[in-house]
Amino acid sequence: MANLEVFEGDITGLQVDGIVNAANEALAGGGGVDGAIHRAAGPELLNACRAIGGCPTGEAVITPGFKLSARYVIHTVGPIWRGGQSGEAELLASCYRNSMRIALENQIHSIAFPSISTGVYGYPLEAAAVIAVDTVREWAEEGSLEKIIFCCYDTRAFNVYKEIVVSQ
Ligand code: APR
Repeated sequence: MANLEVFEGDITGLQVDGIVNAANEALAGGGGVDGAIHRAAGPELLNACRAIGGCPTGEAVITPGFKLSARYVIHTVGPIWRGGQSGEAELLASCYRNSMRIALENQIHSIAFPSISTGVYGYPLEAAAVIAVDTVREWAEEGSLEKIIFCCYDTRAFNVYKEIVVSQ
C-alpha cells in the first residue's frame, strides 16, 4: 500500500517522480497551479502540450517535467463546478483515476496531486477532497506506487485533506 501524505506548499518544489497539473482542455497553460508548473518547467512544457493538442475533462496526459525536479507532469482537466448536477463528481474522480493509471503505466514511484478543480474551477473544497482521497486510495495498492502526496497550497486545504486522510 502506498503511503498517503498531505503537504502544505508549492507542488513545483517537490522531489517526486511525477506531479499532476490541474490543466485546461486546451493544455494552453493558465494561472494557479498550471501557471506555476509551466513557469518552473520552462517553455518546453508548453511545446510538449501543444504537440499533444488537448485533453478532454476527466482525462489525463503525460509529458516530461523538463526543468522541474519531477521527471514527469501528468496533466489532467478537472470539471468546472456548475452546482453539482452536471456530472462534476464523476469527472473529478475520473481525473484522479486516469492520473493514477498513467502513473502506474510509467512506473512512477512517487506522485503529488494538487487539489484539482478547487481554485478557478470553483469545486467546493471539502467535497473535492473526499473524492480525491477516496479515488486515490482505491489505486494505492496497485503496482509501483510507494508515495502519494496531496499538495495543498494553503492551510485551509491542508487541514481539510489532513482530516480526511486521517479519518478514512
Ligand atoms: N502548488 C500547489 N497547489 C497550488 C499551487 C501551487 N504552486 N498554485 C495554486 N495551487 C492550488 C490552488 O490553491 C487550488 O487549491 O491548486 C488548486 C487548484 O486551483 P487552480 O490552479 O485554480 O486549478 P483549477 O481549479 O483546477 O482550475 C483550472 O485554472 O489555471 C487555470 O489553466 C488552468 O484553466 C485551468 C484552471
